[in-house]
Amino acid sequence: MNLTASAAWKALEAHRQSLSPAHLKDMFARDPGRVSSLSLAFDGMLLDFSKQRVEPATLNLLVALAREARLDEWTSRMFGGEKINASEGREVLHVALRRSSGPFPVGDLDVMPQVLATRQRMVAFADHLRSGQALGFTGQPIHTVVNIGIGGSDLGPKMVGYALRAMAHPVLAVHYVSNLDGAQLAPLLQTLDPRTTLFLVASKTFTTQETMLNAQTARDWLLANLGDPAAVAKHFAALTAKPERAVAFGIDEEAVFPLWDWVGGRFSLWSAVGLALMIAIGPQAFADLLAGAESMDEHFRTTPYERNLPVIVALLGIWNTNFLGASSNAVLPYNESLKFLPSFLQQLEMESNGKAVGRDGQPLACASNPIVWGELGNNGQHAFFQLLHQGGRLVPCDFIAAVRSDYPLAGHQEALLANCFAQSAALAFGKTADEARAELSRSLQGAALEELLPHKVFPGNQPSSTLLLSRLDPRNIGALIAMYEHKVFVQGVIWGLNSFDQWGVELGKAVANSILPAITDLELAKKLDASTQGLLAYSRRHLG
Ligand code: F6P
Repeated sequence: MNLTASAAWKALEAHRQSLSPAHLKDMFARDPGRVSSLSLAFDGMLLDFSKQRVEPATLNLLVALAREARLDEWTSRMFGGEKINASEGREVLHVALRRSSGPFPVGDLDVMPQVLATRQRMVAFADHLRSGQALGFTGQPIHTVVNIGIGGSDLGPKMVGYALRAMAHPVLAVHYVSNLDGAQLAPLLQTLDPRTTLFLVASKTFTTQETMLNAQTARDWLLANLGDPAAVAKHFAALTAKPERAVAFGIDEEAVFPLWDWVGGRFSLWSAVGLALMIAIGPQAFADLLAGAESMDEHFRTTPYERNLPVIVALLGIWNTNFLGASSNAVLPYNESLKFLPSFLQQLEMESNGKAVGRDGQPLACASNPIVWGELGNNGQHAFFQLLHQGGRLVPCDFIAAVRSDYPLAGHQEALLANCFAQSAALAFGKTADEARAELSRSLQGAALEELLPHKVFPGNQPSSTLLLSRLDPRNIGALIAMYEHKVFVQGVIWGLNSFDQWGVELGKAVANSILPAITDLELAKKLDASTQGLLAYSRRHLG
């Protein structure tokens, strides 16, 4: 379906024409009730999107677009277990992973028994470790866990684990290894005791090059130190949809926790991929995380679009991307514990919707996912906010903060929140030449003032939303992540693409497989492109 030809899309284009001369200052001035109509509260969070360049009428037109895209039908299809991941012939059932009770029918199958059974196995495994009763090959208690995985088998658990590190187990240390670069695993291994270390090999496919090489190196390290192949079974577990490959690696079947094809990697945090996280924060906190996500699922499924958090967030993105022409979106957490959130959202959003071909195999008639980037906002103020304020580019920003701090220091949280609110206000409202002139004239006059004046003007009108969590607890984080998951789903429906495959990651992997042997095999190298041959030649001269 080419939505850009629809009446709803045309109406939005006309609306943009009529609205675009207005500055956010004008929008606030002419509608005193703006903030209340452009804010949404849900459980432990508040979304203030009044600094987006929209009016209530804009939202009505965007909701009409969602209806034109038959969002309700697609939502029913996903929750109903249809194979909406058409190019891979798979269902999309991450919502089942956080279902607390009741069946989740998929055709004539109910997936819940296996979901609940795996969750119970995870709880027993985590409790055994957290109690200090899990002993390694030499009889010493395990006190270090290393998750070896990449992408969705790393980013989700790592991000939430760091966000909730205030509630981490006091003795167990949990580390995440993902990168092929030895600079990540080698220094870590130097700090670990093989007798007390457990490796979790997290890989849905159990073929990912980075994860397999890191896991093999970890296994070699363990064997070099403990000397007996039987030790592997006591120091490795696997989280995978390919249990037979994990067993072939040397992992005991009872230490293999299953994933299923209907769980996308970037949506797998709630599954066995979350085991390292459950070990760190405990089964109850993990259950609260699931409950937060489930509450957002229910909200998404049952709330009218006009008051539906994921739908509104998605539609604001559609407006900024497809009608205002934004090509990127900044994620700016004002919370140190959310420092991995931008990376997590990069995969969730750009691997899901960074596509130019629709579900129907035809080129999309509109832009799809913007470039998602971001960094801790307070640090960003001293790094890239100059561009956001005076770079002349449209960069919609997501400000995310928690009101209560897990690490209170006198005056710090208040100052952090003040900076967060100040930046979105300054970006929205700016500073006019007249305002700048009035300020400068207190210390400058004549040519000196006129020379400096242009540099002191802030155009403003930079759109943003501010999402305030009451505090950074498992329930709120679960709801936050689920909100973004459903945002991705809604945008994919509107853009007309499949958000759940990722064919674009395959080519680079295949080319890497052809280059690796050519580093030493000069005959193979001659078959490669001239640039790669030159890079290899230089590398051979400098490889240690
Ligand atoms: O290459 C991309 C990707 O497939 C991601 O979608 C996935 O999260 C990651 O690699 C890891 O895949 P696996 O869990 O199968 O190792």
